[in-house]
Amino acid sequence: MGAKTKFLRQFFKDRQMVGAVAPSTKFLAEKMLKNVDFENSKVIIELGPGNGVFTEIMLERMAPDAKLYVFELNDEFYNQVSSRINDPRAQIIHDSAENIGNYVKEAGTADAVVSSLPLMVFPEQLRANVVNAAHTALHNKGKYIQFQYSLQSKRYLEGIFDDVNIQFTIRNLPPAFVYTCCK
Ligand SMILES: C[S@@+](CC[C@H](N)C(=O)[O-])C[C@H]1O[C@@H](n2cnc3c(N)ncnc32)[C@H](O)[C@@H]1O
Repeated sequence: MGAKTKFLRQFFKDRQMVGAVAPSTKFLAEKMLKNVDFENSKVIIELGPGNGVFTEIMLERMAPDAKLYVFELNDEFYNQVSSRINDPRAQIIHDSAENIGNYVKEAGTADAVVSSLPLMVFPEQLRANVVNAAHTALHNKGKYIQFQYSLQSKRYLEGIFDDVNIQFTIRNLPPAFVYTCCK
């Protein structure tokens, strides 16, 4: 079974958790990741890697002594990303993104959080738990980078972060907005 079919199957199994019908394109990955200062980042957190499309590119760009914490809740995607990624800098965690603090012990140490979570289809409490956990993990100059398929998250993220910058790419299915948020 191809990667796209596997992805679609997971969507039909749990639409609210997966929130997308296909893996993101390289174009969206570029738009997301150009906002990360890989040269100077020591701790990066990825939320919702799916089959690992962003994970692999991040590891190519990360410094040799940097660390990547990857949170994936879905069993099938966790297995896929674990077998795709074999890099001592990456820790693939089979747990909810809400629990960042259980793994990234020291608050205020992350340089970037790269999130693909379907935030606006999450129940309100889960959304708040995830975004607050990410906010706590980031240091003062850290960035929270999130893609969504609508502008619905704008007001929500502006309520949590001091600055929210939005970019758009049509080269994804569906087209996507990239939110880059600073503390
Ligand atoms: C829209 S998909 C994005 C997948 C991939 N990053 C991409 O862009 O193609 C959302 C991902 O978030 C994962 N996810 C959903 N809720 C989660 C949670 N609470 N904690 C961690 N991962 C979660 C899903 O299983 C899925 O892999």
